[in-house]
Amino acid sequence: MIYVTRRSTFSASHRLFNPQFSEEQNAAVFDKCANPGGHGHNYVLEVTVAGEPGIDTGYVIDLKVLKQIIKKEILDKVDHKHLNHDVAFLKGIIPTAENIARAFWEILEPKIPRGKLHAIRLQETENNSVEYKGE
Ligand code: NI
Repeated sequence: MIYVTRRSTFSASHRLFNPQFSEEQNAAVFDKCANPGGHGHNYVLEVTVAGEPGIDTGYVIDLKVLKQIIKKEILDKVDHKHLNHDVAFLKGIIPTAENIARAFWEILEPKIPRGKLHAIRLQETENNSVEYKGE
C-alpha cells in the first residue's frame, strides 16, 4: 500500500462557542477562541489517499486530479470565509479543527476516484493539528 498526500493551505476565521452555554461557560471552555468577533487561522490541510499504483499510470491517484477535487469541494468554499457563517456544510457545528476535519472527510471520501481516502490532517497553528481517519 502506498500513501499519497496533497498539502493545501487556506485562511479562514471562526469563533468557538456553544450557543447552549452561558457566556461564562463559553469563556471558561473556549477562552479567547470565544471572542465574539471571531479570529483567524492560516490552516494547512493534508489529504492522504492510500492505494496501489496503477499498472497503467504508476499513480495511486493523479495528484493533479486530487488537487482539483480539494479545490472545488473544499478550498473554494472555505478560503477567506467565516466558518461559522459562510460555509453551508459547517452550519450548526462548532468549527474546531476536529469538527472541520471530519466534515472535510465526509465530503471528500465519496469523491476520491482512485485509491481510498486514508487521512485528513488539519493544522490550525504550528503547534496544533488534528488527524481524522474516518473512524
Ligand atoms: Ni481558533
